[in-house]
Amino acid sequence: MAVGVFDSGLGGLTVLEAVRKRLPDTAFVYLGDSAHAPYGVRDADDVYDLTCKAVERLWDAGCDLVILACNTASAAALRRMQESWVPSDKRVLGVFVPLIEALTERQWGDNSPPREVAVKHVALFATPATVSSRAFQRELAFRAIGVDVEAQPCGGVVDAIEDGDLILAEALVNSHVEALKRRMPKPEAAILGCTHYPLMENEFRNALGPQVKVFSQADLVAESLADYLERHPKMKGPGTESYYLTTGDPKRVSDKATQFLRRKIEFIAA
Ligand code: DGL
Repeated sequence: MAVGVFDSGLGGLTVLEAVRKRLPDTAFVYLGDSAHAPYGVRDADDVYDLTCKAVERLWDAGCDLVILACNTASAAALRRMQESWVPSDKRVLGVFVPLIEALTERQWGDNSPPREVAVKHVALFATPATVSSRAFQRELAFRAIGVDVEAQPCGGVVDAIEDGDLILAEALVNSHVEALKRRMPKPEAAILGCTHYPLMENEFRNALGPQVKVFSQADLVAESLADYLERHPKMKGPGTESYYLTTGDPKRVSDKATQFLRRKIEFIAA
């Protein structure tokens, strides 16, 4: 009954925490590809190749269903994987759709035509690769009309988080929010479109101000996964144990994860 959770590094832990809380009886195998992080500055082919390799490792660990807890992989690789690579007995799901469904206040599986929604000015903070893919705007256009999205590529934030340099990460968050506000002075909502960013959520909120509603993915993805598994119980794979895999240095990655989540996390080599 194991489900795989994948990210380029530590960011997907924010999603893993939420899905573990929502589904306490399900085993989760986490894989962070820290040896190749950040993905956000790589081209789409590179992200595709690395993501496929990581997903295969999670299939080998008995996880028939893998969540890409990484917006960059969801934006740059998921569609291609689903269309031509994922075998029929396996599933790979991304983190975009639950977020957009929440923003547009739609029910799961509502396939009616796009319509006007309450929020008109949305700030999107994401990695350079996610921003340039325009995947968020594409998915949004299927569901909503008249929404103005201003996207800010937040170069450097993931590297600073992966390095544990939170002072630099905070300075970069402030300057990215300022840059966005010069182009969109009054966003109504902000999307933290990278799973690393909830680790800096307070800094984003402080820089944006209290009038901006901040959407982050973890709880939305957890709810969506619970709903999916209820409808597709067979997709809980044969694995039974929860553990953390990394392509990086297990000791270093464990220390950083423990620092971020404020409880002991032990990674082993993937
Ligand atoms: N946490 C990832 C995301 O959600 C990837 C960040 C990166 O590796 O650049 O986009």
